[in-house]
Amino acid sequence: MQCWSIILAAGSGSRMAQAAGGVKKQFIRWNGAPLFWQSAVTLARVARLHGLVFVFPPSDMEEARAELEDLDRLRGLGLPWVVAEGGERRQDSVYNGLMALPEQCDTVLVHDAARPFLSPALVNRLLDALQDGAGGVIPVLPVTDTIKVVTGTHVVSTPVRDTLRAVQTPQGFNRATLSTAHQACRAHGWQVTDDALVLEQAGIPVVTVAGDPQNHKITHPEDLAMLGNRERDTVD
Ligand code: CTP
Ligand code: MG
Repeated sequence: MQCWSIILAAGSGSRMAQAAGGVKKQFIRWNGAPLFWQSAVTLARVARLHGLVFVFPPSDMEEARAELEDLDRLRGLGLPWVVAEGGERRQDSVYNGLMALPEQCDTVLVHDAARPFLSPALVNRLLDALQDGAGGVIPVLPVTDTIKVVTGTHVVSTPVRDTLRAVQTPQGFNRATLSTAHQACRAHGWQVTDDALVLEQAGIPVVTVAGDPQNHKITHPEDLAMLGNRERDTVD
């Protein structure tokens, strides 16, 4: 198995921007490096991971690449990496990341840089499932809130909570399966919120493994407190 990970760091962080002083959240300084670096370091610690594709906003490309080169020189990531330009929507950034994978790569993890607390154990659970032949695998957690379907301010229905799961990244895929499914997604003009949905649209089975309660996503200003609890640097 030749597995690479795509690290998605091409969003605009609009829900966070004001609290972060206009800095896109993936570039917030933390432990002397931009936040996206933390995901890279964790992924690089996993022996079965062969390389990384960083996806950055086109406007930040050169600066981010230069910083990565410096960090890699100083701290030694220990595996090959390339960069790719992000697109307008997350799914476009994933597509561009897939295009940048080297030919020998046969499996891929798609990870949001906005989840800096992923663990090697979680990555290994995903890789085990891929090694067992899964076409797609996602980390999930049970839902503790009751979830309602609503229209406007009206409740439409209440899905049975035991059947619901909250989904995290990284999500793991057979590379060819994901690439083909993303191409179909583009051809049909479908909007998707995660990559598992790309496979679901194509009728391809996706399996689950246990997610990690620590693997929070940094989305809103109050989420910055999670970085504070974990030695965050000052926000630039
Ligand atoms: N992302 C990306 N390309 C996009 C949009 C999002 O690479 N066009 C990445 C983000 O950088 C983030 C991950 O996808 O790591 C999850 O997206 P989200 O948390 O929504 O981040 P943003 O889109 O940046 O934030 P917001 O929605 O608040 O603008
Ligand atoms: Mg977004």
